[in-house]
Amino acid sequence: MILKIIVCVACVQAVAVGVVSGKSLLLQPRHPLPFTADQAPLIARIGPHDARHPDSLHHHAGHVSSSFSGRHGGKGSVDGCPLCPASHEISPCACRCLNDTAATIECGPELASCSQLTEVMSLNSYPVNTYLRLVVADTNLACKLEKALWGRLVFQEIEIINNMFQALDNRAFQPFSATLTTLNLGGNTLQDVYFSTLSDTPLLRFLTLSYNKVDFLPGYSAMTLPLLETFDASYNKIRKIIAETFAGMPRLQKIDMSNNAITKVYARAFAFPQHDASSLVVNLSNNAISSIEPGVLEGVRVCTLDLRNNHLINLPEAVYRPIIDFTAASAIFWTNNNPFDCDSHFCWIATNQTVSGTFNTVLCPNLGNYPVEVITPMCSILPNTTTPRYSRSRGHPAHPAPFRKSQVSTAVRNLRRPFLRRP
Ligand SMILES: *[C@@H]1O[C@H](CO)[C@@H](O)[C@H](O)[C@H]1NC(C)=O
Ligand SMILES: *[C@@H]1O[C@H](CO)[C@@H](O)[C@H](O)[C@H]1NC(C)=O
Ligand SMILES: *[C@@H]1O[C@H](CO)[C@@H](O)[C@H](O)[C@H]1NC(C)=O
Ligand SMILES: *[C@@H]1O[C@H](CO)[C@@H](O)[C@H](O)[C@H]1NC(C)=O
Repeated sequence: MILKIIVCVACVQAVAVGVVSGKSLLLQPRHPLPFTADQAPLIARIGPHDARHPDSLHHHAGHVSSSFSGRHGGKGSVDGCPLCPASHEISPCACRCLNDTAATIECGPELASCSQLTEVMSLNSYPVNTYLRLVVADTNLACKLEKALWGRLVFQEIEIINNMFQALDNRAFQPFSATLTTLNLGGNTLQDVYFSTLSDTPLLRFLTLSYNKVDFLPGYSAMTLPLLETFDASYNKIRKIIAETFAGMPRLQKIDMSNNAITKVYARAFAFPQHDASSLVVNLSNNAISSIEPGVLEGVRVCTLDLRNNHLINLPEAVYRPIIDFTAASAIFWTNNNPFDCDSHFCWIATNQTVSGTFNTVLCPNLGNYPVEVITPMCSILPNTTTPRYSRSRGHPAHPAPFRKSQVSTAVRNLRRPFLRRP
């Protein structure tokens, strides 16, 4: 109670002093915080998740604008916040205290230029130099993300979202090498990205590049991020995934590459020499994938692979069986909406319940969209067709043993199993 009254009095004084002199002694931190390495324990306590940190870009936009309206006085005015400079100094950006130890700096549409951003970052009046989060959102700016953009401040989370930024330069985030855990660059026009520079921020746990124009990801462990849990590059223009793109990220739990232009996934694209997370979800849905090489996913004990809405014609045993075996059949493959041409190549799935259990229902557009189990009767009358020659069936699968139409229609007519119905 007494504390509340003191805080209230401080608010009133801050406003009054601010109005009278334009400068307030009360803006000095009550307990000056140690900077640099001494602050590490403090940083560790401040996690990347908070209630004001929703995933969706739309929510981000709302969040930013509401914080801007919040900064103009009224109850909870930030002017009493010991971690922030006076609001007129940092304008057009805003500084906001979340509590005694965490504050954010947020810049919105009022930000007029990239040099203005650098000016704001370089002010001398920041009471501390480590902030929980920097937000630059909803501007028309096309700044290059480079080291020279920043001042002396460091951040644990950076959200540069819904702008027109195109390029990410070498060493762009190096100043944050000891602090950065979350980097969200969603909703820009990034294309020219110096990916290996991401290895400069080894504490990174969440990386979002969604809704950009990225068309290439480097392989061979060019990105080494020992703590990264989420890699989100959905809604870009990526065309292929090459070997060892993620091999330097042993803690990954989620890779979202949905809604790209991927046509081919190369061997070892998702190879993890030392995967060290409880599970991995790889989302490749809504691409144009027609070819996946054997050995695509290695070293993961529990995984889900979302392949919905692609251009797959076959599900080669050589690609999926090793994954099923390595995961002790706990793997889950989602395959809806692919133009499967179900023939004897699918017998290895249709005739083994352990295998078919890892695939959510495989539907066969060439057989009236029935589940793949419809071919089971033919698998027994065509011996030795369950081991086709995979080297030939990669890419454009050959069809050495197609079923005769009459066989299939007889099988379909004879269906008695209740779960086999047209979707
Ligand atoms: C301050 O807020 C941050 C972010 O919401 C939170 O992670 C941290 O635990 C809070 N610290 C205290 C001392 O309440
Ligand atoms: C993959 O992404 C799509 C949207 O792009 C989403 O609808 C789907 O739920 C995701 N799959 C998984 C397994 O998370
Ligand atoms: C079914 O597939 C599983 C997983 O590959 C394998 O371990 C098992 O031996 C197969 N069963 C038969 C009867 O072939
Ligand atoms: C099927 O393969 C087995 C061994 O792999 C062989 O002994 C058998 O003769 C084959 N049957 C036919 C019909 O080709």
